[in-house]
Amino acid sequence: MKYDFTSKLERVGFDAEAVESVGKRTGLAPEAPKPGFDLIPMWVADMNFPCVPTVQQALIQRVEHPAFGYFKPREEYFAKIIEWQRRHNGVTDLEPQHIGYENGVLGGLVSTLQSFCAPGDKVLVHSPTYIGFTNSVTNAGFRLVHSPLKIEDGVWRMDFADMECKLSEQHIHAAIFCSPHNPSGRVWERWEIERAMELFRRYDCVVISDEIWSDLIRPGFKHVPTQSVSEDARNRTVALYAPSKTFNLAGLVGAYHIIYNDHLRDRVQSVASKCQYNEMNVLSMHALLGAYEPEGYEWVDELNQVIAGNVDFARAYMAEHFEGVTSCLPQGTYMLFVDCSGWCQAHGKTIEDVEHAAWNVGVAVQDGRMFLGRCHLRMNLALPFSRVQEAFERLDRYVFNA
Ligand SMILES: Cc1ncc(COP(=O)(O)O)c(C=O)c1O
Repeated sequence: MKYDFTSKLERVGFDAEAVESVGKRTGLAPEAPKPGFDLIPMWVADMNFPCVPTVQQALIQRVEHPAFGYFKPREEYFAKIIEWQRRHNGVTDLEPQHIGYENGVLGGLVSTLQSFCAPGDKVLVHSPTYIGFTNSVTNAGFRLVHSPLKIEDGVWRMDFADMECKLSEQHIHAAIFCSPHNPSGRVWERWEIERAMELFRRYDCVVISDEIWSDLIRPGFKHVPTQSVSEDARNRTVALYAPSKTFNLAGLVGAYHIIYNDHLRDRVQSVASKCQYNEMNVLSMHALLGAYEPEGYEWVDELNQVIAGNVDFARAYMAEHFEGVTSCLPQGTYMLFVDCSGWCQAHGKTIEDVEHAAWNVGVAVQDGRMFLGRCHLRMNLALPFSRVQEAFERLDRYVFNA
């Protein structure tokens, strides 16, 4: 590998929620390890790898100039996004005016809902559900209606009949489509997106397609942009992307929308601009410029291989050593959504017992119930392989075979 995915990254003292919130009882954070165990952060969705060096170089170069006044995004910002979308997603008709800055994917999501829904309106989302959707949608005064995904032959699938029933009976006109899906890791196939979009057309839904994970795809799988499946999909969808998940830049803040339809875009931009909070930070722009350099393309390819190796190790270890603990293969993201119900039933334990035992020995996994998993853990596998190995050995010795 050309880039460093093996060194243990020291994050203490460097503004990292993944390590600094642990033990602080914030509600979402794991408890602190018992003495004798160091922390292996496997919860919040950021990575324990150094970012591609071109990000730091771009930031340093800009910081050397001693003025940080008001600014407008450079043309290069749009050009680099267009090139990224062309090479990663095969998008050939993207123009600068279709792209707009969003202060976070969740910010773009809420602006869209505020543009097209009245308070109290229902929004369709699949479950399990990313907790950020749950919080931001309900905090903004809308109601979520869940359409559960189901596992068929080891693959998470949408239940189109259930979606249709909910859309029609509950008069729903807005949907969140998470592609790839967090926390299941599903990378939707073209026919699945086409069928979902056909339902959204039939029931006249505005679709918010959250594609923040679309660069993190297991080798052998392919991300299909929602807007690419039909002319109708192109026109009814607000697609949201960011370099933050791909390159570990969440602390710099910055996402962008792609909206082809003029009416849709005018409405979303109108709402987003009124709050006065939706302005780009100059360093966030330069981080994107550094990330979308040629080195960034190579770095992401290597990253996807590293994640696939970690996922394969984790799933093989579970299959061999943890009876009653299962997961479907994540085709994208770096999350593993782990069903512990078989093990808990056999041992008379709850998922809370499992979590506490894991947290005690420094394996800081996340409670899957936040994502509406009944008896699940969500495990972030974006760590050096040696750390993943260490985590599974501790889970073996102190949790599942204690
Ligand atoms: C599916 C999904 N959407 C959005 C976000 C958050 O995006 P942002 O920080 O840009 O609001 C996350 C973060 O984990 C996510 O998993």
